[in-house]
Amino acid sequence: MPQKVIMIAAVLENGVIGAEGDQPWSHPDDFAHFKDLTMRGVLIMGRKTYEAIGRPLPGRQTLVLTRDADFKPGDAPPDQARTVASLEEAFELTATEFADRKVWIAGGGEIYRQAMDRAERLEITHVHTELPGDVTFPEIDEAVWAEVGRTDRDEFSWVTYKRISAATPGSLESD
Ligand SMILES: NC(=O)c1ccc[n+]([C@@H]2O[C@H](COP(=O)([O-])OP(=O)(O)OC[C@H]3O[C@@H](n4cnc5c(N)ncnc54)[C@H](OP(=O)(O)O)[C@@H]3O)[C@@H](O)[C@H]2O)c1
Repeated sequence: MPQKVIMIAAVLENGVIGAEGDQPWSHPDDFAHFKDLTMRGVLIMGRKTYEAIGRPLPGRQTLVLTRDADFKPGDAPPDQARTVASLEEAFELTATEFADRKVWIAGGGEIYRQAMDRAERLEITHVHTELPGDVTFPEIDEAVWAEVGRTDRDEFSWVTYKRISAATPGSLESD
């Protein structure tokens, strides 16, 4: 059975998640929400997102996706951040070394798109505004994802989606 994978992102009304290499929007409560949810888990993220953050996030194992064999995640020790050359390599590691930990897809746009078919849950901060940007979140198809939880705040809503059908028939289990 494939390991459960959860995607987490803050998405503006126009779908934007990134602008010029950084996040166009942030809120301290959303940082805390991200931290609470992902603590002790494994974060899988693209090299550009890792460089935007600039360091491994404490209490979590980061797997940095890169095709550059020479890329080093700064001076972070391997039990905090290490590189992987493909999503499959990342999932092999999470299924073996980190089988007891939750697996979070933490962006950016390239990685969300490639991992969407593997996700069984989405934790989306829907931000109630539009800002310009150059990286977007993939479409959340209502035929595939059902909203199962919501907390509304003035500036944003935290929404949990659960997969209700496989994006590609037969590619996933549904539960
Ligand atoms: N709002 C949010 O919740 C949120 C969350 C995360 C990120 N972001 C934003 O998203 C933007 C970054 O997204 P992005 O799409 O430009 O970049 P990204 O997904 O963070 O990283 C792309 C890089 O990942 C590596 N990569 C991609 N697919 C791979 C694969 N299959 N195998 C191995 N390596 C692979 C490549 O690195 P190499 O070039 O090194 O080979 C590629 O250049 C930033 O603006 C960031 O702030 C927003």
